Amino acid sequence: MEEKEILILAIESSCDETAASVVKNGRCILSNVISSQIALHTLYGGVVPELASRKHIEKINQVIEAALCEANVTLDDLDAIGVTYGPGLVGALLVGVAEAKAIAYAKKIPLVGVHHIEGHVSANYIEHPDLEPPFLCEIISGGHTHLVIVKDYGEFDILGRTRDDAAGEAFDKVARAIGLGYPGGPKIDRLSKEGNPSAIAFPRAHIEDAPYDFSFSGLKSAVLNYLNKCHMTGEQIVEADVAASFQQAVVDVLVDNAIRAAKDYGIDRLAIAGGVASNQGLRTAMEAACQKEGIRFYRPSPVFCTDNAAMIGVAAYYEYLKGTRHGWDLNAVPNLRLGER
Ligand code: KG4
Ligand code: ZN
Repeated sequence: MEEKEILILAIESSCDETAASVVKNGRCILSNVISSQIALHTLYGGVVPELASRKHIEKINQVIEAALCEANVTLDDLDAIGVTYGPGLVGALLVGVAEAKAIAYAKKIPLVGVHHIEGHVSANYIEHPDLEPPFLCEIISGGHTHLVIVKDYGEFDILGRTRDDAAGEAFDKVARAIGLGYPGGPKIDRLSKEGNPSAIAFPRAHIEDAPYDFSFSGLKSAVLNYLNKCHMTGEQIVEADVAASFQQAVVDVLVDNAIRAAKDYGIDRLAIAGGVASNQGLRTAMEAACQKEGIRFYRPSPVFCTDNAAMIGVAAYYEYLKGTRHGWDLNAVPNLRLGER
């Protein structure tokens, strides 16, 4: 007998992308619609939370309709609704949560709240059918930098995290300082290709008693100090060299911590996730380091690294199988911790 298909509609609105996706049986993405607010926030040099919420309200129904249409399904075909309920911007999250509750209530189907970071990790399952826990995962986004052992679906042991700025935040702040604008990550990534990564010696922070933790605020300050010094002395700033040297410093630490953890814990599978995981320099360096150490390397395509709803649908599927169900009291939790429900 053919097994019943499980169709999940997933919604993501934690920051500046309004996204919806239909996912079949956990790993088959039938649609992945993303409405980006980049053009809106570029005017202000970063995400303006109030504007983000309003834009989500404006777009969410269109995005959901497009996701259903592209997947060739209707609301009546769905088995569950998955939605990001934290962490993120509270007003932005609330739009997705309210929408998901309304659909789940109207269609009498289960509501499954998803942790945004669990979604990022789950992006790796989409294109790697062989990947199953346990494995090591480095999650590198605009708000988070975590190194975790994925023990099981949705079960994590946190080995390290950032002490200050997230890696993506450092990219965005440095990009702003060298006049590249928002969003900084992709712009630094592009400009780095024209620069010399060893032109300027920026620091690589290692934390004495927490070998897998990260710290990027010292690096950010070092870049700002370098730029100030150049302004004062009249020394010419070669933006591409600053970008490449900064990116190399971030990449070195991300690769070093992940590979060291894999060796220390004897784990031979390493995945990366989150917006910064789309960075070309990082992908190339991590791939080379993994090859050298005999570690199997997994990374989502760039479109599944940055915020999207497909990854939320994948995570929701595994939560659904485990029996996770949320009630009508599900709320947005802006500082939801990893592993919390
Ligand atoms: O995962 P994400 O889309 O949203 C959060 O959950 O935060 O990550 C966004 C972050 C931003 O800081 C952005 O600058 C960074 O990811 N990012 C990149 C690249 N693409 C996006 N950073 C470095 N290189 C990239 N190619
Ligand atoms: Zn994200």
